Formats: sequence, C-alpha cells, structure tokens
Amino acid sequence: MNALTGSSRVAPSILSADFSRLGEQVESVLSAGADVIHIDVMDGSFVPPITMGPIVVESLADMVHSADGILDVHLMIDSPDRQIEAFAAAGADVLTVHAEAVTHLDRTLRAIREAGMLAGLAICPGTAVSIFEPVVDLLDLALVMSVNPGWGGQRFIEATLGRIEETRAVVGPGVAIEVDGGIDTITAGPAAKAGAELLVAGSAVFGAEDPQSAYRAIADAASPAS
Ligand code: DX5
Ligand code: ZN
Repeated sequence: MNALTGSSRVAPSILSADFSRLGEQVESVLSAGADVIHIDVMDGSFVPPITMGPIVVESLADMVHSADGILDVHLMIDSPDRQIEAFAAAGADVLTVHAEAVTHLDRTLRAIREAGMLAGLAICPGTAVSIFEPVVDLLDLALVMSVNPGWGGQRFIEATLGRIEETRAVVGPGVAIEVDGGIDTITAGPAAKAGAELLVAGSAVFGAEDPQSAYRAIADAASPAS
C-alpha cells in the first residue's frame, strides 16, 4: 500500500490547461477536490512533442503541496535516469518512466526511490504487461497507457480494460494502477471498475468550459456508486 493505492480518483493532466493562467487552473481543480496533479513531460524524441520540465513542476509545487496534493510526473523521455535528481529537487512526488525508454529498469526504479519519490513504470499499448513482473517490488505505480503517448485528446483504446485487469494480476494489491489517455465521463467508470485507481484526464477537464464541474463529473463517473 502507498499514498496512491485505494479508491479510484481522477488526476487532472495540465497538458490541456491554458498555460497563460496555469496556477489559476490548477487551483480550481484542487479546490474541486483533486489531490493528484498529473504533469506530462515530453522530449521531442521518445515522443514527437516537447512540453515541459522541472521548472513547471517547481512552479506548482508549493501550491499543490500546501493543499496536501501530489505531483504525479509522467516522463515520456529517452534516458530518464539523467533527470531523476532534477525532478526530485523540483518537488515531484511520483516519477514515472516508460519501460520502452529505459535500459536498466531495476536500476532506474531504485534510483527514483532513493531520490525520495514514489516510483512509477508506464507501458504503451503495444507493450506486454508481464514487464511489470520482475520489478514489482520496486514499483509504487503501474501506468497502463490507454492511448499511444504524445498528445492529449485521443480516443480511449478499449483493449486497455483487459490490460488493467491483467496488470492487477501481475502487480497485486500493493501497487497502484494508473490509466492515462481518453478518460472522460464515459470511460472513467469502466476503467475504475477494471481496477484503475488513478484516472488521468486532460482534455476532458481543462478542455471543458468549466474545469471544476468537468472534474467533478468524471470523479462521479469513476465512483463505485455510479
Ligand atoms: C498523453 C499524456 C496524457 C494526456 C491525456 O501522452 O500522457 O497524460 O494529458 O490527455 P487526454 O485526457 O486528453 O487523453
Ligand atoms: Zn500522462
């Protein structure tokens, strides 16, 4: 068990936020009840776009931490080992690397924990969930991508639901499962039911006219009562 396991919650991804008023937008979802803020780091190599780095994490850290929130950083970059210290210093709480981008997985995951963060491992839709098995004791979070990484606003890949269940069978109850890509009021319920504890939602939250009520609607759709 760790700070991420337990009931399903929605993690707004700032990738789809209005960067000219980022603080205000993050504040609005925090006050609507979000406690995990997802930050997508892309390097123009592992995935084509370039997005943001430790400077943005650092700029949000005080605001998110003073609301008892968690900064969940998703690295879609090659050679992520080089960046572990910088993200720890910036205030990241969870650091997730992609299995497809790491050569020495055991070493990288240990280094993330040694830097004082929770360790996450992400897999693309074309990667077998069995990759989690040899490193399960080093994992706090297993991120099952429900789109091919790189852009917000893509369609949820339905086969992910079965992959979430398979991942649970591999990692057991002590590792949180996160799903990322195409989460909205329609897909959140089935993803939570399949066993995902963290549901990343970018465009469905920040692309909406009112991110607060969009966040609440997705959170309601993910809750067991719905
Ligand atoms: C995609 C990113 C996602 C993205 C999700 O590569 O990892 O976190 O923000 O965006 P939506 O929710 O719009 O699919
Ligand atoms: Zn992400």
